[in-house]
Amino acid sequence: MKPQIFATVLLLASIVSSPAPDFQTTAPDSPSITIATARSALTLRVGADKRVYEVGYTASGRQMVVTNIARETECYPPYGNGFILEPAVQARHTDGNISTDLIYVRHSTTPVDADVSLTRIELKDPVYPFFVTLCYKTYAAEDVIESWSEIRHDEDGAVTLSRFASSAPQFKANEYWLTQFHGDYKHEATMDEEKLGPGIKILDSKIGVRASRFCIPSFVLSLNGPATEDSGEVIGGSLEWSGSFQLAFDLDWKNRLRALCGINPFGEQYQLKRGEVFTTPSMLWTWSDHGKGQMTRNFHRWARQYGLRDGAKPRPVLLNNWEATDMNFNEQLIVSLFDGAKKINADTFLLDDGWFGNAHPRNKDNAGLGDWQVNSNKLPQGLSYLAQEANKRGIDFGIWIEPEMVNPSSDLFQVHPEWAIQQPHRDFIYGRNQLDLDLSNPQVRDFVWKIVDDTLSTPGVSYTKWDANRFVNQPGSTYLPPDDQQSLLIRYNFGLYNVMSNMAVKFPGVMAMACSGGGGRVDYGSLKYFHSFWPSDNTDPVSRIRIQWGFGHFFPAEAMAAHVTQMGKRPLKFAIDVAMSGALGVDMDVRKLSPTDLQQLADAVALYKKEIRDVVEQGDLYRLESPYDGPRAALGYVTADKSRAVVFVYQLKAGDARPVKIAGLDPQKNYRVQVAGSTETANPSRAGSSLMQDGIETSCRKEFDSAVIELTAE
Ligand code: GLA
Repeated sequence: MKPQIFATVLLLASIVSSPAPDFQTTAPDSPSITIATARSALTLRVGADKRVYEVGYTASGRQMVVTNIARETECYPPYGNGFILEPAVQARHTDGNISTDLIYVRHSTTPVDADVSLTRIELKDPVYPFFVTLCYKTYAAEDVIESWSEIRHDEDGAVTLSRFASSAPQFKANEYWLTQFHGDYKHEATMDEEKLGPGIKILDSKIGVRASRFCIPSFVLSLNGPATEDSGEVIGGSLEWSGSFQLAFDLDWKNRLRALCGINPFGEQYQLKRGEVFTTPSMLWTWSDHGKGQMTRNFHRWARQYGLRDGAKPRPVLLNNWEATDMNFNEQLIVSLFDGAKKINADTFLLDDGWFGNAHPRNKDNAGLGDWQVNSNKLPQGLSYLAQEANKRGIDFGIWIEPEMVNPSSDLFQVHPEWAIQQPHRDFIYGRNQLDLDLSNPQVRDFVWKIVDDTLSTPGVSYTKWDANRFVNQPGSTYLPPDDQQSLLIRYNFGLYNVMSNMAVKFPGVMAMACSGGGGRVDYGSLKYFHSFWPSDNTDPVSRIRIQWGFGHFFPAEAMAAHVTQMGKRPLKFAIDVAMSGALGVDMDVRKLSPTDLQQLADAVALYKKEIRDVVEQGDLYRLESPYDGPRAALGYVTADKSRAVVFVYQLKAGDARPVKIAGLDPQKNYRVQVAGSTETANPSRAGSSLMQDGIETSCRKEFDSAVIELTAE
């Protein structure tokens, strides 16, 4: 910045620094910054005081009239120099000053490719060498904006950051309706919508690891009324962070709503060294004026293209042994399951927990974590022998790991008790008899990477399930200095991403599922290193319909591992039909299945791979009937060219024989309607318009009846 401009900025800054809550500054010719996708735009404006303000986040091209700019509409408000609401950033400078001010320096927009652009807005404190760059990556075709902040300084020493929002947009509407996705183990992603009142509503996690166990860092915000599937203005938000997060919704006295999203400032601080850049996790936003259905399709399209590993690649059908064998198995038993895997047409056998530990064998969950050597009693010929045996039968081989964890009953803990997250002077509190390893410590991080590297380097391993079964409730590190203890959970996640990213780079051919005692780590921060996630240990299809329904608002079907099991003792067809609406897998003891059940599974898997998987995994999701609303749930996937669709109908209670109205079809096209797997076709074919207006009759009447219907344009 030129000296005279800097001086003007200083003067302006001092003018506006008086703490008048209703301060307004006019903005006659100030530059406006438009961050646009195909259908939406976030418009910012530099005020006469050189601060950057938000004008609106709405349909692109909508005229926004700004006569004056209120201080409360600052786009990334810092704490301590006039802004009196919930701030986005808070810092203690090296001289002890706890105030920050941020003034526009410059901005640039650079195209990355035909779809993606990056806007960077540089801000600076007028008196301190403290800099924030607001970054916005736009994905035009998907209508997604990804935003994050980069914070750095050139002060002499460390600046303490105690607030570090990734993004803090403000919305203007008459009413705001927030849908959260909360729950617990086996009840993940339960939807709850409420009208926001004045004050601050916080959705958060304070548990650092397995952080989304009680609430996922994603939400739906509906303007001017509750969200519906296909109409109304809706904003979807999803934070790319696997640690403690905070989503704070601050409704002010003028009915403006600010959503502050990022790492949870509760209990977390970061000592930022001179020259170091603190990059916040990214926040994903999408805007829709066609309700939350469009919001979902935007997220899904983005995820398949940018958010997941190998988004275009079909997910293999897994046979997993967890519910069938628990940790009680040996080599012979596992090899005998490979034949079953082949019989049911699975692609990959996934060996779950229980294969490691010698001095502390992993026969129960109280021992072995940390000792990642193959248990020589159970598997005397090792993992590569198993892989070979699977490969001989035309099956790929995958392996479960939980590399971030340690049981006190392990060689690792005996040698390195200090590697566990712990508080001095306090007794350990165990979760599932285990502790979290301290990934803020580079030595521990290297150890964890070595476990992953060694395990996945085993010849023949082509899949992994990465688990994490406990959270942090004693956040202390023997590695971090006393004045930096509060950065533990932040540094933990940076360390975790380092290991996950190494995995994705070194093992591009190994597919990976993120698991965390069920759905405790479901976020786009970790998912960029994974192909899918495990939504829940609850595989009762009745529960899974709701759990998958919730997660499906943000995460596409190809990412949602859905296994057919015997949980809940539901009819096999019902369990299969529910699992087929996600990334299908099976977790059953195939040796014990009756010949009829075995054949039914084999036929279903073959049909899924031939006719259903590509539509479900790559298609657009239309939620048709919510399991929250009535006795029946229904959803459909439609290919981008609208030539094919697959509709799933689940009868949760007896009754309701109304036709199911389909959505997302081409009204002009005629579709052949066929029950999946049946050769009978309803005759004549039906117009898309009629299928959407009048619906299709199904055979579902009784509790647990289900139907899978294929629609093919003629
Ligand atoms: C967690 C996972 C399960 C299974 C077990 C193994 O609970 O969610 O799927 O892998 O761990 O211990």
